[in-house]
Amino acid sequence: MKTNRQYALAISSKLNTQFIGKKLYYYDVVTSTMNMAREQASKGVLEGTTIVADKQTAGRGRMGRAWLSPQGNLALSIILKPSLQNLPRLVMITSIAVLRTIKFFTNIDATIKWPNDVLIRGKKVCGILIESEVRGEVVNYAIVGIGLNISLDTTNFPEISTLATSLRQESVQVASKSEIISTLLYEFERLYINIKDGTAIHNEWRAHLDTLGKWIEVKCGNTIERGIAEDVTSNGNLVLRQANGNTAEILVGDVTVLKR
Ligand code: BTN
Repeated sequence: MKTNRQYALAISSKLNTQFIGKKLYYYDVVTSTMNMAREQASKGVLEGTTIVADKQTAGRGRMGRAWLSPQGNLALSIILKPSLQNLPRLVMITSIAVLRTIKFFTNIDATIKWPNDVLIRGKKVCGILIESEVRGEVVNYAIVGIGLNISLDTTNFPEISTLATSLRQESVQVASKSEIISTLLYEFERLYINIKDGTAIHNEWRAHLDTLGKWIEVKCGNTIERGIAEDVTSNGNLVLRQANGNTAEILVGDVTVLKR
């Protein structure tokens, strides 16, 4: 069995990046890679430092939800220092990097459910969580968390079995975890280096959003908005055309597609 150091070395030996993942920590079990990354970020570590874990005992998702993270779910967090202007683009570049990685290894065209769930055949294969610390105009740090189901057999988990899938379930052959991580970090870095090019990033993200044009419901806490997902703004907000003809801009929420 490989040690954590050997796993980290296996990733590093395949990694073709300038700074993302150059400093990489690999753990068997953590509460959440977000917690580990936050601890590191508050110490002021190098941008691009990446935390990878085999399992998380308290993985977390968007909007305070838990994230199921047994072995077979790739869990990683990347520490970044973007400008305030580029912060909203992290959602976009991360989902694009995941789509490109899935395409590379499986030839599958995955899609994005606004804002950043990655789906294959309508089932979630990857969740993305972005946390940041901002003081005034300065982003002290941002942490990009990626949970990608690689070899997880989602049928063993009743709470997600009808909603989630994994690369193994969708594709005959799946590469090793270290190959997937190194490609994902490479794709992420290529996009991050060009993050200033907001229009190109926005266009690519928008083109893969399967939410647009659909009649949807967006839930945020106790608020529910319904309408047609008409567009997304340059900073990633969803533009909803309501039944009365008005538009609402949604910053955060959970989308369900409604049948009409
Ligand atoms: C979501 O879809 O709600 C986001 C899920 C994000 C999960 C990843 S796994 C790596 C990182 N560590 C966590 O605790 N969460 C993110």
